[in-house]
Amino acid sequence: MFQAQDLIRRKRDGEMLPESEIQAFVHAVVAQQGITDAQTAAFLMAVFQRGLGTAELAALTQAMRFSGETFDARPLHTFTIDKHSTGGVGDKTSLLIAPILAAAGVARPTPEGVPGICVPMISGRSLGHTGGTLDKLETIPGFHTQLSLSRFEQVLRQCGACLIGQTPKLVPADRILYALRDHTSTVESPYLITASIMSKKLAESLNALVLDVKTGSGAFMRRPEDAGLLARLMVETGKAAGTRTVALMTNHDQPIGRYAGNWLEVMECVDILRNRRHAMSADLIELTNLLSGWMLHLAGRAGSPEAGGQASDELLRSGAAWKAWVGIVEAQGGDAGVFENPQAFHQPAASAQLAAEAAGFIISIDTTQVGWAVQRLGAGRAKPGDPVSAHAGIEVHAKLGDRVEAGQRLVTLHAADQTLLAEPLEMLREAYVVGAVPPGLAWQLREVIVREV
Ligand code: URA
Repeated sequence: MFQAQDLIRRKRDGEMLPESEIQAFVHAVVAQQGITDAQTAAFLMAVFQRGLGTAELAALTQAMRFSGETFDARPLHTFTIDKHSTGGVGDKTSLLIAPILAAAGVARPTPEGVPGICVPMISGRSLGHTGGTLDKLETIPGFHTQLSLSRFEQVLRQCGACLIGQTPKLVPADRILYALRDHTSTVESPYLITASIMSKKLAESLNALVLDVKTGSGAFMRRPEDAGLLARLMVETGKAAGTRTVALMTNHDQPIGRYAGNWLEVMECVDILRNRRHAMSADLIELTNLLSGWMLHLAGRAGSPEAGGQASDELLRSGAAWKAWVGIVEAQGGDAGVFENPQAFHQPAASAQLAAEAAGFIISIDTTQVGWAVQRLGAGRAKPGDPVSAHAGIEVHAKLGDRVEAGQRLVTLHAADQTLLAEPLEMLREAYVVGAVPPGLAWQLREVIVREV
């Protein structure tokens, strides 16, 4: 018989728990029987302090994955692949990667018999200082992110990719555990983060998964050693579940690309998909090609990740990914006509400029602070369920290492109301540091740290 008190005591004392007891714990949490919230919170704190062994973590993840409904991709007869990022400021790669992969695979096998690709992206909303894919997509008039799993399957068949939010029945254990973690200072545990992220990704029934684990001033795991541990735990957990998993550790010491903010980020992606490349988007394009290069390689469409990166860039440049994007948007109810003149649709009521106070080089950017400034401009929410502003956000005019003159624009801020500008402007002023000597090259780090292929 499952005894919550006994389970807590044994984890508190560092014992390894068997799979059957971890399953019983998750079952009790979801059924809300045989365990109180206080006991669940105590168990989470014991895990926070003691960590989990490989088998325990795999058991927790699998029990959470199967705690509700899952998406069954088998009827599609495709290679099912997704990516996940640990979160960033201006990180909009999902909006580019979904159409790139769709353009490469379109859910059909090649003449040589390589299976079609399908990308079932179940995405999230803004979290802390970082933006969320769903909030960005929902700025496209008519775009639906809350689809049933059967409609999800139809769009995947038609387009090869579909981007939706979590359904109420998908991985309910994570919803309950996450809310308790949020109230008990146990969010940061790499073990609990792994179980949370991987249970949701594995519920998409993936053949392969590419993880972008960020490190640096805008990352949840700022130190490379913490990001490295998280990457290793996620790869081990993916492997234990039979999903080929690759983790890349990428630096996040500055906002990614040209814009951060919901519609602004869609607009940046539309420009890239229409092959109108801006210098400030170069790092975003590089990161996108790195991740989709790995995905194309794992899906059997490229002989190496590097060849996959080149194929990805070609799908962007040729307009094939643009065509796939319009198809996905229209299949999800969105009005693709708005992309004809995306600048005209961008109508912030108020704007301001951050200018350099002295000449020099941009030597550091506190990217977490930049993310909070973007949220305060109105792009994020103070509490769950709050509306977000489509047009709030920033445009960056200079990157790390760039030489700037006194008075030169560094950032343009946009908000729905003049009164929302002053505090974020001050936060950005503190976040950008200009100095006399150019910084080192640490921010250029793009490293494959764990491969399991
Ligand atoms: N994202 C998640 O889905 N879960 C976590 O625990 C952290 C980030």
